[in-house]
Amino acid sequence: MGADKKIGLARGLTNYGDSDFSLYLRRSFAKSMGFSSEMLAKPVIGIADTGSGFNNCHRNMPELVEAVKRGVLAAGGLPLAFPTVSLGEVFLSPTSMMFRNLMSMDTEEMLRAQPMDAAVLIGGCDKTVPAQLMGMASADIPAVQLIVGPMMPNMFHGERLGACTDCRRFWGMHRAGKVDQAGIDEIEGNLAATAGTCAVMGTASTMASLAEALGMALPGTAAIPAVHADRLRAAEASGRRAVELAKNPIRPSQIITGKSVENALRVLLAIGGSTNAIVHLTAIAGRVGVNIDLNRLNVLSDTTPVLVDLKPTGQHYMSDLYAAGGLGAVLRELRPLLHLDCMTVSGQTLGERLDAEPGWVDRGVVKPFDAPYQKEGGLVALFGSLAPNGAILKRSAADPGLFEREGRVVVFTSLDDLAARIDTPELDVQPDDFLVLQNAGPKSGYAMPEAGYLPIPQKLARAGVKDMVRISDARMSGTAFGTIVLHVSPEAAVGGPLALVRDGDRIRLSVRERRIDLLVAEDELQRRRAQWKPPVETPSRGYARLYMQSVTQAEHGCDFAFLRRPAAPEKS
Ligand code: FES
Repeated sequence: MGADKKIGLARGLTNYGDSDFSLYLRRSFAKSMGFSSEMLAKPVIGIADTGSGFNNCHRNMPELVEAVKRGVLAAGGLPLAFPTVSLGEVFLSPTSMMFRNLMSMDTEEMLRAQPMDAAVLIGGCDKTVPAQLMGMASADIPAVQLIVGPMMPNMFHGERLGACTDCRRFWGMHRAGKVDQAGIDEIEGNLAATAGTCAVMGTASTMASLAEALGMALPGTAAIPAVHADRLRAAEASGRRAVELAKNPIRPSQIITGKSVENALRVLLAIGGSTNAIVHLTAIAGRVGVNIDLNRLNVLSDTTPVLVDLKPTGQHYMSDLYAAGGLGAVLRELRPLLHLDCMTVSGQTLGERLDAEPGWVDRGVVKPFDAPYQKEGGLVALFGSLAPNGAILKRSAADPGLFEREGRVVVFTSLDDLAARIDTPELDVQPDDFLVLQNAGPKSGYAMPEAGYLPIPQKLARAGVKDMVRISDARMSGTAFGTIVLHVSPEAAVGGPLALVRDGDRIRLSVRERRIDLLVAEDELQRRRAQWKPPVETPSRGYARLYMQSVTQAEHGCDFAFLRRPAAPEKS
């Protein structure tokens, strides 16, 4: 019998040239941890523990790990927790995005290299769930995604506050001179008041929802607040389920398919989810050979209403979504649009899951399909001479009054240039201008940070300007609001048309036509193209070199090219 047919610690033996010796040695070393022979004979459930002093969002990791272990033990398995890279969004430089693929590789390799029959992967902060889903899709061992859960909003001076839409709102007021230093200092201590991920439908909550929509997290678990006892029960249930999966495997490749990816896209649109999720879902799908076509996104967007009234699109917080019925309430509304035959990690198909659920829903938070919060989906892809391979706009969190516009361009050539000039009194900028940021994409040296939410120039902010058309090859926080065109591809740092934009040019935006065009004559563009030079050199060593050599553009999920699986023809 091959090693891969064995269970638990007998799997994937360390190679000493004598497999019996390898198993004997492994068991004797495992016994140094105090395990009995009986325990060491059980199926092993690996638990990816992403607790870190640099990740506030995962503060509840120790009790989640304990609860998963409890579930594993109760179901007859041996739980073994192991650490992986953890990515705390605000603690990483230049941006967590640079390290998402590193975490996915770490996760994939540790799932494969260590002897486990199934796994529970615990993540939450923005890049951690995409990294874990990418890693488990590639390793393709039975696995359950467990979410750490969102923070609770906080009451402050009679108002509910929650990271991080309110972080930006108050910072905007501070920049406009409406909140003084003492005020912003006090608010700083009240925005993120509990364990868990950002309290709104930002990237973390979006990816949690997509993990459940894909079928990789247990039904009903995406929106449970981090501090709610149900979160611990979800952890226990995930541990139990992993033991069942060890005995009757369902692999990620059976769950993450073209159909379930399309279900996840529908959910992304219906929840008014983060623009980042397009990049992450593309990367996850790419690991199983499924392509996401941005033209298809537009078709889905036109036929999928926004159903959830949550910040930044609406007014509520993730804890309200949980109390309103959770993601199941959204899935039930979307039911006619979903592929109900998709398998989930629970062992039920999506349709069986929805059949089995009670029907409670709070219509203040989750709107009915025929009376939605917004008639069309939250995200659209734009194409045109400025973005031949696409760009993304979150129309649900933007000002429709700016959707059909032509504007004069004010260009910032880098993030450093932006920081140096955006607030200077001499900046030549008018409220109707389009702000363009170049060289903030995947290969820019900044690794595509969440810098696409360019601040309104201070002199305009103080004059009451709240939104402007802003265009870049960067990303944007899922918690942000504004008429912001992101992920322009090809990016400026590889010589895309965005690199050729100059101050005073004109750009035409038409959300109705899904177009974004640079209105400059081709001969002038040719002249500029001939003068273009890459803004940064490839680093000489280490992960930074691997990243720069291998990262793909946004429409390929910014995954490393060698980690994607070639697309297979989709079966209908
Ligand atoms: Fe971790 Fe927002 S900072 S989810």
